[in-house]
Amino acid sequence: MAEQKPVAGSGQRSGPRHVAIIMDGNGRWAQARGRPRLFGHHAGAKRVREIVECCPELGIKYLTIFAFSTENWKRTQVEVTGLMSLFRRYISKEMNALAAKNVRVRFIGDRVRLDAKLIDLMDKLERKTENNDGTHLTIALNYGGRDEVARATKRLAQDVAAGNLDPEKVDEETLPRYLDTHVLPDPDLVVRTSGEARISNFLLWQSAYAEYEFIDTLWPDFSKEELASLCANYGRRDRRFGAVKT
Ligand code: FPP
Repeated sequence: MAEQKPVAGSGQRSGPRHVAIIMDGNGRWAQARGRPRLFGHHAGAKRVREIVECCPELGIKYLTIFAFSTENWKRTQVEVTGLMSLFRRYISKEMNALAAKNVRVRFIGDRVRLDAKLIDLMDKLERKTENNDGTHLTIALNYGGRDEVARATKRLAQDVAAGNLDPEKVDEETLPRYLDTHVLPDPDLVVRTSGEARISNFLLWQSAYAEYEFIDTLWPDFSKEELASLCANYGRRDRRFGAVKT
């Protein structure tokens, strides 16, 4: 493994170092304006740019966003095709700006169902930003927490079968090395917009000790001011990781 995995949630910090966001509510935002759902997704994509840009001033080093889940294929063909085309367009359009702003982009999720052109753009963006050390932006695309754990377990089992891993030595530190997020610290704060209080298969293993914020704002209305206020709330929370405060 090329990089050292940072220690999760180590030490008391004023703000979260890793924020993960379930960007929900694009469809309802569009519906409220009498527009098709894709109109909401386009508005949501614009919001992504603003939120990525404000990370340095909020002290957020890692931002992980849920763009498309393994369950989102169940949506209509029109919406799925529209989202895939939006992702292609977003990557092409934002590539230079992200690189110039020192953002390092990674994608997590299973690429098998994604089209070749999109995969190509994802690879290109990852390569173009691989030496950047500003905000680490991770985009979850065709991502599902259970799917990720299943894929990781498969690779772990293959290593055992090949004699590269002693099953007696498998512990809590082993599986995360096989997850898509193996180079990232665990999220400190998980935000879900649009009033739904569920985590929908997002970063299941990694969020075991995360703080959660479920807020009513629809994703296209989410602002950097609101993110700043959530970060301030986080700073007031007492994270004990199962221990008793002394
Ligand atoms: C959930 O809202 C949103 C999605 C499934 C897609 C998220 C995509 C974006 C924000 C657009 C662009 C992202 C990138 C990275 C360019 P919903 O459709 O479930 O809303 P609803 O619950 O109101 O129907």
